[in-house]
Amino acid sequence: MEPSNALKRIKPSPTIAVSAKARALKAEGRDVIGLGAGEPDFDTPQNIKDAAIKAINEGKTKYTDPDGIPELKAAVCAKFKRENGLDYIPAQIHVSTGGKPVLYNALAASINEGDEVIIPAPYWVSYPDMVLLCNGTPVCVSTKEENGYRLTASELEAAITPKTKWVIINSPSNPTGAAYSKDDLRALADVLLNHPQVMIMTDDMYEHLMYDGFEFFTIAQVEPKLYDRTLTCNGVSKAYAMTGWRIGYAGGPQWLIKAMGNMASQTTSNPCSISQWAAVEALNGPQDFLEERKAVFKARRDLVVSMLNQATGLNCPTPEGAFYVYPSCAALMGKKTQSGKVLENDEDFVTALLEQEGVAVVHGSAFGLGPAFRISYATDTESLTKACERIQRFCASLT
Ligand SMILES: Cc1ncc(COP(=O)(O)O)c(C=O)c1O
Repeated sequence: MEPSNALKRIKPSPTIAVSAKARALKAEGRDVIGLGAGEPDFDTPQNIKDAAIKAINEGKTKYTDPDGIPELKAAVCAKFKRENGLDYIPAQIHVSTGGKPVLYNALAASINEGDEVIIPAPYWVSYPDMVLLCNGTPVCVSTKEENGYRLTASELEAAITPKTKWVIINSPSNPTGAAYSKDDLRALADVLLNHPQVMIMTDDMYEHLMYDGFEFFTIAQVEPKLYDRTLTCNGVSKAYAMTGWRIGYAGGPQWLIKAMGNMASQTTSNPCSISQWAAVEALNGPQDFLEERKAVFKARRDLVVSMLNQATGLNCPTPEGAFYVYPSCAALMGKKTQSGKVLENDEDFVTALLEQEGVAVVHGSAFGLGPAFRISYATDTESLTKACERIQRFCASLT
């Protein structure tokens, strides 16, 4: 007996694997600082928890429509209008059990065998494997460090073929934190206007985590002519510290939203009714804490970037958003660790760092572009400082 061919095409999420390895070392009594997890260390705000408790007490504990309660769809429409200037009606909204299933439902509902999906690299680890699960072909396009890891118009143009079904744009990005400006999106939109068969999936999960006054834009807002073929995806996981509640959402063309709803009706059914009521409160309730949390994340980003750039052989660009940095360790390839291991790639680098100094980070090749590694700075300042000191010591120890 063996898994299906579709399952054999994919691998377990490497970011989850790093967290598991760090946990296992901790269980053995090692002093490990885990910087692998992609979730805010803040708690879910109290008003959101209260809304969930109220939903339980009011008996809102039954099946709902598979793609979301009307109240949440209305809150999502209001959010898209308020924050992104986008007009959607409830029939254009899909709600699912997290941002990840929203993306998967969209791909599963639209991809035919051999359809290509353009994915700028470095990419969030799940995109290529989700495409493979749907019998599609991921077309990973390497971006350049000197372009801030953003896909350029000419790189996009060169990747499009008659088989291209989707291009995925993730801004701010996991893993690099890079964000697209209005002008960057304008340039991509100009290319896409010439290719009417290509749909655009934007993953705006980190919208509320942008620093230094960098303004967030999403492509359907920048070029309204692309609205009919754009799926604007978002969720409450990162902005509202609700990763465990499992609510994501998207706005898009009605034919696709209907197909995604069909998909959900035969697979997950509705996302948790209680979480949906909590998400209504997240989107409709007070938003001022977002600014406060953003200021904390910005201070951590500045600390980490500065300390990593003081480490021998690392080069860490300053990202515009999210809670990740993506330093290059190219200058350290070929160096030897204290135990005599020659570092041939970024996986060797992160393995040796974990073994020698007890700092868990994720290798860049897992995100499709190395030699580099990803640090999640969604953790307290003391741990970050200690981890960066250890990284500095590790880099200095290489010969
Ligand atoms: C870019 C990106 N998109 C989507 C998701 C998925 O979010 P959720 O936890 O809501 O499924 C993540 C989570 O790490 C992410 O980084």
